[in-house]
Amino acid sequence: MIDCFGLVPRPDFADFYDDCVLFDSMVVLADEFFWGTAELCSTQFCELGVSCVCKTPSENNTNSSCDKPLKVFLEKKSSFLSQDSYDLTISLGGVVVKAGDCAGAFYGMQTVRQLVMTADRKNGNVRLPLCTIKDTPEYQWRGFMLDTCRHFQPVGFIKKLIDVAAMHKLNRFHWHLTDDQGWRLYIPEYPLLTEIGAFRYNSRAMWLGKTGGFYSHDDIREVVEYAMLRHVTVVPEIETPGHASAVLASYPGLGCTGGPYRVEERYGIFDDVLCAGNDEVLKVFSSVFETVCDLFPGEYVHIGGDECPRTNWKTCPKCQSRMKSEGLHSEDELQNYLTVRFASMLEQKGKIPIGWDEVLDGTENLGLPKSLVVQSWRGIEGGRRACELGHKVVMSPQTQGCYLDYKNYDDETEPGWIGCATVKKSYDFSPVPKGCDISKDFVLGGQGNLWTEVIYAPRIAEYMLFPRLCALAECLWLSQDKKDFEDFSNRLEVHKKRLDLLDVNYYRGKLE
Ligand code: ACM
Ligand code: ZN
Repeated sequence: MIDCFGLVPRPDFADFYDDCVLFDSMVVLADEFFWGTAELCSTQFCELGVSCVCKTPSENNTNSSCDKPLKVFLEKKSSFLSQDSYDLTISLGGVVVKAGDCAGAFYGMQTVRQLVMTADRKNGNVRLPLCTIKDTPEYQWRGFMLDTCRHFQPVGFIKKLIDVAAMHKLNRFHWHLTDDQGWRLYIPEYPLLTEIGAFRYNSRAMWLGKTGGFYSHDDIREVVEYAMLRHVTVVPEIETPGHASAVLASYPGLGCTGGPYRVEERYGIFDDVLCAGNDEVLKVFSSVFETVCDLFPGEYVHIGGDECPRTNWKTCPKCQSRMKSEGLHSEDELQNYLTVRFASMLEQKGKIPIGWDEVLDGTENLGLPKSLVVQSWRGIEGGRRACELGHKVVMSPQTQGCYLDYKNYDDETEPGWIGCATVKKSYDFSPVPKGCDISKDFVLGGQGNLWTEVIYAPRIAEYMLFPRLCALAECLWLSQDKKDFEDFSNRLEVHKKRLDLLDVNYYRGKLE
């Protein structure tokens, strides 16, 4: 197997030749359709120290001040049917990227970016290998999740992560925005959600004292725009009805008991959740989802749904009265009632709701809206059930290399918790494992999740994410029969130089 110059993910088809093209600068030639991609990628080449300008095809023959510019042609090819696909040739005459959509052109250019990053350079000349590549992804949902609640993450870090992820052809950023330890999104109608809910006291680490933060609407717009240019859809998650301590500390009337509540500094699962019998809860979350839908143009909004104890619902008069009036037979059905209400708020705004696999519980009576996407995390069983019910599914099973808060290596000195997921374990992940009877038609793809309870700083987040996210990116891009761990490990040795160039603090230890 050829080493593909360390490309990650490995292209679906690649042929490299013995010869190289030599140049001292680049010119990207694109018409209006691909102009945005051309401009962004040309900036990325400049950042690598290769001078690069964009031109329209009609400006092609104007003189360049450089001796040997490499011409990069971005061409639209309408016969390309599949999204995100591209053809790339590097010849002595220049580079041609052909794609049917802007995402495909962008991915072709990310492949060129990766090759430039590791190219030989001598006396100001860059040397790229001649090649033919035909590339297309296996899955349309290639995601990564960052928990910005347990530890707040600055916008600069989120943008860096999006850029590195997009270089790996990942295309969904699941942004976990609310949880027990912090509410991170400013909601104009309910300002206490961030005035109170975005901050907690950290009694274990006194040097931090009051800690937290939240994202302004300008912050969100900045991230969404940055992601959109890189063909990453931002999927915001507003957790309901559990993991609600920060909401309840801000508005105690939304809980079953009235409190007292506090923004949690402990980690785990707490009995204080949203009161399912209180209409005010529906009103507040209607406002919240209104803000979310205005700020996030992507088609998906995540409503959480995981780990919601029924303890308080069992004794709360309002919750019990709701169950009676709605003809619900159990507290599981009560959560399902909320799921249906929240999902329909989103559907009315033209969005597709997503929920963690617990949303499948208690659905015998009301059912779930068909549009709802299920994210399978407690293994793959939830995904299988959801497919059988006709739901689209995102696979991110906790125990199969998708939980990047697990240790990279089973040693007490390694950061991380709960379990261990080696790079090999992540590489072995497949959204539809061999021999399993899940219909691939319903599986959108998969995702790596980084929960941040023990991730105290962005540098540690990077250490947990990479290179396992590189491995997952390959699982989601390349078909399972073309995956090969030894080949990936060899390519990773080259690819590390790219992570170094992007200043990523990746894990460098044993891979299995
Ligand atoms: C989860 O990990 N609680 C979705
Ligand atoms: Zn209640």
